[in-house]
This record gives sequence, structure tokens and C-alpha cells, in this order.
Amino acid sequence: MAEATVIDGKAVAAELRARVAAETALLKERHGVTPGLAVVLVGDDPASRVYVANKAKQTVEAGMASFEHRLSAATPQDELIALVRQFNADPTVDGILVQLPLPGPLDEAAVIATIDPDKDVDGLHVISTGRLWSGEEGLAPCTPVGCLILLKRTLGELKGKRALVLGRSRLVGKPLAALLLGEHCTVTMAHSRTADLAEECRRAEILVAAVGKARMVKGDWIRPGATVIDVGINRVPAPELGEGKTRLVGDVDYESAVKVAGAITPVPGGVGPMTIACLLRNTLIAACRRRALPEPAI
Ligand code: GUN
Repeated sequence: MAEATVIDGKAVAAELRARVAAETALLKERHGVTPGLAVVLVGDDPASRVYVANKAKQTVEAGMASFEHRLSAATPQDELIALVRQFNADPTVDGILVQLPLPGPLDEAAVIATIDPDKDVDGLHVISTGRLWSGEEGLAPCTPVGCLILLKRTLGELKGKRALVLGRSRLVGKPLAALLLGEHCTVTMAHSRTADLAEECRRAEILVAAVGKARMVKGDWIRPGATVIDVGINRVPAPELGEGKTRLVGDVDYESAVKVAGAITPVPGGVGPMTIACLLRNTLIAACRRRALPEPAI
């Protein structure tokens, strides 16, 4: 059998960002509106610093306003909550994102609960979750939206497909299951305690791995011709690159999976770049909805 088609998330993300930028320019020209995204980073986790810097850069490149706030890891809870309230009240802010995880004593749930759901571009507020599962208009988390866009680009119509989501996180697994249901897939949610996981995976026409376990899904877990979306980003030792070197791998064992799947996302360059592109998309959508302006079809 031929090797799988490699799904180029980097290219799809670049295309989406270009469309968001074009629609942002139109919004400015027709309505004088510049969408604004506020990002809060608490503490100095190096990975989070890189994410936040990339978000700010791509926000500005899309023609949006970026408000970046870096707070010390020792910031008291009430100060962080007061900052979020300030963004809620600020008409130039359309989207609010508090980078997770928050350092030690801060209460993530309380902080997220403070965000105005209409500005919740991360889609993590319980009201956003409720809207998503109820089929009401709202904002869905960015990584699962990115997965859905890649799946539609690869397969077209998803109706009736048997989809398996491996992983049940609040950020990816659960919201992705809701999005796939919305597309009329038959959805199974599997996780670390699922009995006979390999057999469950082999039934899936769409397999999404989001468990955070390096190369867990092997080629013989995959149904021949299935579309495989790998959300995992795991750093593993790579002695072949030199002593002490590491590299990024997904939750799927790419070398064996690529021989069986019909299409597959690589790591890096698959789902990863879609997340920020979808954050910009959510920010543009929030900016339109908050002003009751027509939403671009992107
Ligand atoms: N940390 C890792 N991924 C995310 C994300 O999608 N949103 C937020 N807020 N923090 C994250």
C-alpha cells in the first residue's frame, strides 16, 4: 500500500492566517474596527514564553491589536482577577487569553470563570463549554477547531464517519468530541483506562490522538486508510542527533503509522501551527459578534 498523504498543517495555518488578515483589513475599512487580543502570562515558564511571544507576533501580523501582560509568578489571585475584569470592561479588547498552566497557588478555574464568555477566545469558560455541547453559538477551543479544519480539508464531508478521540482533556479531547458530533460523526472517546484500546482505535476512520504519551499509537492500531490527527507534542531523547539532544514526537508512532494510514499529520508541522491561526480566527469572530456585524465565513 502507498504511504499516507502528509497533512501540511503549516501550510493550512498560513492560508488561514492570510484569510483572517484579509477579513481584518475589510473590517477596519468598512467599520473602523480593529480586533484586539489580550494575552496574560504569569510567571516565566520558558515554553509558555515562546507561545505567548508567537501569539503576539502573529496577532500584529494579522493586523490586530495585541495587548501583552507579563506578571510575576508571585502575583496574587485578586490582582490577576482584577486585570481580567479590566479587559472585560475594555471595548478595544475582543479576546482574552490567560496562558495555562498558571503557577502554583493561583486558581485556574476562578480566573477562567472571570473572563467574559463573549471574549473567551480560548473557549475554556464553562459557559463556552455549555454553548458548544448545546449547539449554541459560542467560541470553541483553538486546538480542536484546528483539528476539525484539517479533517474537513482532508476528507470533505465528515457525516457518518466513525471517529475516535483518544484523550479526554478539557483543552482538546472533550471539545473535539463535541465538534465532531456537530459534524454528524459517530464519536467514541477513549482514554488511558479504555479496555482493548488498540481494537477501539482499529475501528476508527478518523483517529485523533491527544493523550500526551510519546509514540503510543502504533501502526497496527490504525485501520488501513484512516485519517490520523496527532495532537501530541512530546520531547524525547534523540541520541542519534548527538549526546543530550532531544526532539519532538507526537502521540502516534509516525514511522509505522504512515505505512497504514490514508492521511496523517506530522509532528511538528501538523496540528501545532493551527492553534494560533484558530486563536486569531476566534478573535476576529468575537470582534464581529460583539458589534452584531456579519461574520466572515472563514
Ligand atoms: N497552554 C497550552 N495550550 C494552551 C491553550 O490552548 N490555551 C491556554 N490558555 N494555555 C495553553
